Amino acid sequence: MLDALGREINYLRGSVTDRCNLRCCYCMPRGAVNWLPSNTLLTDEQILRICRLATGLGISRLKITGGEPLLRPGLPELIGRLKQLPGVEQVTLTTNGLLLQPQLEPLLKACLDAVNLSLDTLQPACFSRITGADGAKLLPLLSLLRDLTQHTPLKVKVNTVILGENQSELPQLADLARQLPTDVRFIERMPLGCHRSGNPGQTVPPTPRQLLAQLRQKWPDLHAVHEVRGNGPASYYASKTLQGRIGLIAAVSDSFCASCNRLRLTCTGQLKSCLCYDYGADLRPLLQPGVTDQQLEAALKAAIWYKPAAHCFADATGLVRQKFQTEIRCMNEIGG
Ligand code: GTP
Ligand code: 5AD
Ligand code: SF4
Repeated sequence: MLDALGREINYLRGSVTDRCNLRCCYCMPRGAVNWLPSNTLLTDEQILRICRLATGLGISRLKITGGEPLLRPGLPELIGRLKQLPGVEQVTLTTNGLLLQPQLEPLLKACLDAVNLSLDTLQPACFSRITGADGAKLLPLLSLLRDLTQHTPLKVKVNTVILGENQSELPQLADLARQLPTDVRFIERMPLGCHRSGNPGQTVPPTPRQLLAQLRQKWPDLHAVHEVRGNGPASYYASKTLQGRIGLIAAVSDSFCASCNRLRLTCTGQLKSCLCYDYGADLRPLLQPGVTDQQLEAALKAAIWYKPAAHCFADATGLVRQKFQTEIRCMNEIGG
């Protein structure tokens, strides 16, 4: 379905839990976390119903996110059922990877199409500073990345958020695209939710453009390619010495809203048509007995039609943000 601005909406990002086994500094609140009560999360049947109706409106690609989606019990079965919905062409997963190995076989059986693995550093001490977890967890993650790219049919991408903390390592992280058939995407940190004013005192990291210039010193032939390599907002660059591509997700400095193709479903059933704003349709009352598919479908249609034209992350004055109720929840609650 087209929205009021003529953008084709064909991608739904669904968060299946707010819980996470990491505490990434750009995503989770500092200090104690109040998890959402588990009885407020959508059930598998409710997720399937929403996705079935969404496919009728032209959504053909589904992304499963969290929190950490693999913390949701029975995720491979849910993915298998989503894959079988008529009209679903692709189901992909974005994960921190820590729980992936034991669930890999059922996920492959469920015909999962692709995995995006969050990896912000190659150094255990830095991993610990960024994620709050034991640095020893990094090494198995790196061997998992190798295994996934070399021994499974999954398409694998690496997600690296550009931070002050990891900026000296970014070329080394990019080098993973030379060593392995994987795309490495560098994500501009979004000032969102509980981190909307940033982490004071941190070194200012390079912008995606500055990073690209830096990577061109290492790979001078890096050039933009206009290939479809996913459903997300990354722009991709190739070099003849790299097996995979370098991706840039310049969410703030180079907005991609004009070509936005997606909706978000939070784990509690809020349908958000833009990551930046805190409003969206609460689908839960529409999932109660007695509400027809037509009524639920009407809410989906309205969310698509009234999708905002653009985010306002780059509003330095703060005035636009005040006026338009920007998101105050953290990324783990909204779905990354
Ligand atoms: P694929 O390339 O198909 O795997 O999709 P993707 O890039 O959307 O997947 P992923 O879940 O790995 O998201 C990568 C980054 O892009 C995350 O930081 C997302 O939050 C960000 N992102 C995805 N969609 C949007 C969006 O609509 N707006 C903004 N600002 N950021 C987004
Ligand atoms: N800015 C940019 N990317 C973020 N992610 C989580 N929080 C932020 C943020 N504030 C990314 C994670 C993960 C993806 C789902 O979202 O690194 O790869
Ligand atoms: Fe967890 Fe992903 Fe957020 Fe890190 S970015 S805390 S792995 S949900």
